[in-house]
Amino acid sequence: MKEFWSKRIYNQQAYTAGEQPKDKKYIKLNTNENPYPPSPKVKEAIMAALNDLRLYPDPNCTEIIEAVSEVYGVSTEKIFAGNGSDEILAMSFLAFYDPGRPVTFPDITYTFYPVYSELYGLSYNLIPLNEDFTVPVERLFRSPGGVVLANPNAPTGIALKLYDIERIVSENPDFTVIIDEAYVEYETQSAVSLIDKYANLLVVRTSSKSYSLAGLRVGWAIGNENLINALNVVKNSFNSYTLGRPALAGGAAGIRDREYFEMCRKKVIFTRRKTAESMQELGFELTPSSANFLFAEHPKINAETLFHALRERGILVRYFNKPRIGNRLRISVGTDYQMSVMVEQLSDILRHY
Ligand SMILES: Cc1ncc(COP(=O)(O)O)c(C=O)c1O
Repeated sequence: MKEFWSKRIYNQQAYTAGEQPKDKKYIKLNTNENPYPPSPKVKEAIMAALNDLRLYPDPNCTEIIEAVSEVYGVSTEKIFAGNGSDEILAMSFLAFYDPGRPVTFPDITYTFYPVYSELYGLSYNLIPLNEDFTVPVERLFRSPGGVVLANPNAPTGIALKLYDIERIVSENPDFTVIIDEAYVEYETQSAVSLIDKYANLLVVRTSSKSYSLAGLRVGWAIGNENLINALNVVKNSFNSYTLGRPALAGGAAGIRDREYFEMCRKKVIFTRRKTAESMQELGFELTPSSANFLFAEHPKINAETLFHALRERGILVRYFNKPRIGNRLRISVGTDYQMSVMVEQLSDILRHY
């Protein structure tokens, strides 16, 4: 029943987030979370922030913006902070794209992009990825309304080189190009180095993956001051206090702890490589992943069967029942131990085929 619903959301298809099951303890490899806990400094900072919960938080998110500025060497006027990168992406679609001018993104990418487009009544052009799931770069040139691109892409994990990102940005001089760098720290060149050269480039980042802070909801965007001003107009027309005090304090502490960040980042990359090799030995075909997940297909057993067989054995991965990728599993990179259990179980399942 949809009585009293506005016409705007009557037919809205909402995003379905990956499962967070409570029925039993799983090895959880389905939502690209980091298997390692956040930096111990995060907890300390959050505990201190709890003393002031009576007061509203800083609406300008200064703590996060200053930490990002220090770590990434960008001046504070070029940074925007939000409640996870999802919120920033949602605000960006409203800030930069107009009905009647279709936004362009690949057919296989983060499923929130079509959801935001539909929510705001924007049309969109889906550009089919190549057969091997790489992005057909030239087809993103001269878009009629703007481009949104995840780099590396999700759920394929395949990254474009900075050279190609720059071509996409420079070939769309009249519209905003959003590069969603949710997984950039796992061996992709960031486009942040281009923001002073291109006024139409917005880079969106998150603490959810490489900083192990999915539960805190802290993201940021980096771009020309003019784009950041537009995001602030949207934000302050919607909710001035997007980040609570614990998120501001904890997020800033996590971003600043470089040593811990590097240690976790390297461990995930190491485990990704090792798991990919073991899976290839079992006959899996994998895309070259530059993210904290693998995107895999087996010639002998379909992905849905594998998904259920793994689930029964207490391992949760992601399966997308969608054209072109319906026979693939997206498997987040866990700890070395979790991944070796996963590979053992895959090997056992495959013995029956
Ligand atoms: C490509 C991409 N962008 C953005 C996000 C959202 O991340 P956040 O937790 O910062 O909202 C995700 C999360 O899975 C993602 O895969």
